Parts: sequence; structure tokens; C-alpha cells
Amino acid sequence: MKIALLGYGTVGRSLDELLKRRDLNIEVKRILRRNKDPKDSRVTDSIDDILQDEEIVCVAEALSGREPADSYLKMIMESGKHVVSANKAAIASDFEGLLKLAGKMGTTFLFEASSGGTIPWIENIKEIRETDEIVSLKGILNGTCNFIIDKMEREGIEFEDALRTAQSLGYAEADPTADIGGHDTYNKALISCSLAYNGFVKKDFPVLGMEKLTRDMLKELEAEGKTVRFMMLSERSGDRYAVGVAPMVVRKDSIEANVRQNFNCASLTGVTVGELKFYGQGSGGYPTADAMVRDLVRVRDKKTEPDILEKKLVYDDSLIEGVGYFPFGKKRGLLSELIVEARKKDVFMAFEHEEDNEVNA
Ligand code: HSE
Repeated sequence: MKIALLGYGTVGRSLDELLKRRDLNIEVKRILRRNKDPKDSRVTDSIDDILQDEEIVCVAEALSGREPADSYLKMIMESGKHVVSANKAAIASDFEGLLKLAGKMGTTFLFEASSGGTIPWIENIKEIRETDEIVSLKGILNGTCNFIIDKMEREGIEFEDALRTAQSLGYAEADPTADIGGHDTYNKALISCSLAYNGFVKKDFPVLGMEKLTRDMLKELEAEGKTVRFMMLSERSGDRYAVGVAPMVVRKDSIEANVRQNFNCASLTGVTVGELKFYGQGSGGYPTADAMVRDLVRVRDKKTEPDILEKKLVYDDSLIEGVGYFPFGKKRGLLSELIVEARKKDVFMAFEHEEDNEVNA
């Protein structure tokens, strides 16, 4: 199978190398990148070279940011080619439009690498949702944030120093405000919840970043046997759902509190299966590229089904209630209200979902 690769950053380059190393009968015929490489005849800076090449049946997209990636994804689908993407920002910007266009054109659109890095998270959501009703999702879905908290906790360093190390290791986005401000986790939550609940979740659900976390706050929580993880949390009841992204208070002996470095841990709860947890590397070139390889193999083997999300979902923020830990004390409330208050007062807040912490106790 001949493919084209869009983007040659950390993930794109790793994907190219993995495909060269492995005997999968998947060949990168063209590479779209800004800086032309005179030594590599596959490289072009024109998307038309790829769209017009009839030998290319699938395009692997590893660009960063929403545009031009979103437009390219649509142009590729319209040209009848299949798409594998790692780009959560582009996918979340018009998830509904992209899925509908893929359905209309009869092209395959896979995005395992977009959420949870190398963890088989998207495929497991799709599989469980076929037979069971998924009623809750939660997870550490940003490696950079987890790396920062872990470093602060274990090495006693401050936020800025930990962020610089995460950037040097290639975990952080080009603009790390997407990581620490929560937008990256928001994108992954939007994709995951829409798939799990079989309908498109609204775009303006509450998000609070973790920029204001300090070592002192972690020490105070430690005295209570707790710590913080940066997470998405979602609950669903029938057609109603709530979802939010924020720093979350977790017990020190919970699985989440023991997720280290850039690792992710995402959980889903089904009515029948109960809670399932998926743990692994959520960022980094080779792990993320490996998830793209698995999608490419699905395209090669034609093992794909279109995603048709049919349910009309209703947002109901009363489904997530708990305790907000503010610098001025604790306060009970809905996750959405507590996030609004923290944003308004421009202060740190970590949310404790007591149900989760009781279950883990
Ligand atoms: N910046 C992202 C993270 C990359 O740190 O999780 C993987 O999506």
C-alpha cells in the first residue's frame, strides 16, 4: 500500500522510520513538509502532488495544530483517499464534519494516535460501546502535564523547570499552553466522549488549566494522603452527560496517583463490564507513531467500519458534583460551577470527585 505522510516533526519522522524498519508492505511515497529536503525525492511542499497521485490510497497526517490540517483532511477525503490522523486539534475542531464527510465519501478515517498516544484507547471504546453502555470516562490524557506534576512531586522542583524538561524531551506541544492550559486534554476528551456516548458532545464544556499549581499545594494535599493529576472526567446517564477537564484530587494510593512521567491512564466504565483502565505512553514520537502504524494496517487489511454517531445528547452539569480545593479553602459544588469560579477569581482549583476516591479507597 502506498501512502503519503503529512508533517515531518517528532511523530511524522518516527512513523517514516517505523515503516522503513518493518516489513508491512506500507510505503511512504510522498512527504509533505515545509522545508524541502533536496536529498529526499519523496518530499514536496504541495498538497496537490499528493491529492493527484492515484497510487496513494491513504494519507497519514501528523501535522500539529488545527489549520491547515483540518482543510487538508477534508481535501484528502474528498479525493477518495483514506485518512489516518494523530492530530487531535484538527479532529476536535470539526469532529462531526470530518466523520460525516468520511461517511459520505466512503473513505476510512482512523485516529487512534489522537488520544492517549500509543494506548489502544479509541479502539477499545469502539469495541466496548458495541456491546455495553459506557457510563463514565476519565483519564490522564496529557503526558506533558503528568510529567510536570510527577517531577514537582518527586524532585521538589517548581512548575517552570519541570515544563522546560518536558519540552526538551519532545512531549509538549509546539506551544505548551495547549498542554498546561487544558486544551489538548479538551480535544482528546471531546473525541473520546463523543465516540463512547455515540453522539457529538458540545464544544464549550468546562476546562481549567494547571498553570497555577505550586509545590506548596502538593505538600498540603500530601498531608491528607492525596495528590493532583490533570484529568478529564465525564459521566453519562441515558442521553444526558457531563464532561470537564481540570486538575483532579486523587488519593495517593490510587492507580492515577501512581501514573508517572509522561504516561497516560484512561478509564471507561460500562454498565456490565464495570471499570476498565488503559495505561501506557501518551506522548513521544515512536509510541504515537506506533498507534498510527496500527491504524495503517487496519486500512491495508480493510478492517474498518464507518463511525456513525447517532444519539442526540443533552449536557447536564448536575451529573458531576464534588469538592473544589481552592487556595482559600474547600468548597462543595458542581465541577462546572467550581471551574467557572476558579477562572473568574484567576486562582488554582483542583476538583475531588468523592465517588472515585471512595471507590479507590
Ligand atoms: N503534548 C501532548 C501530551 C502530546 O503531552 O500529551 C500527545 O498528544
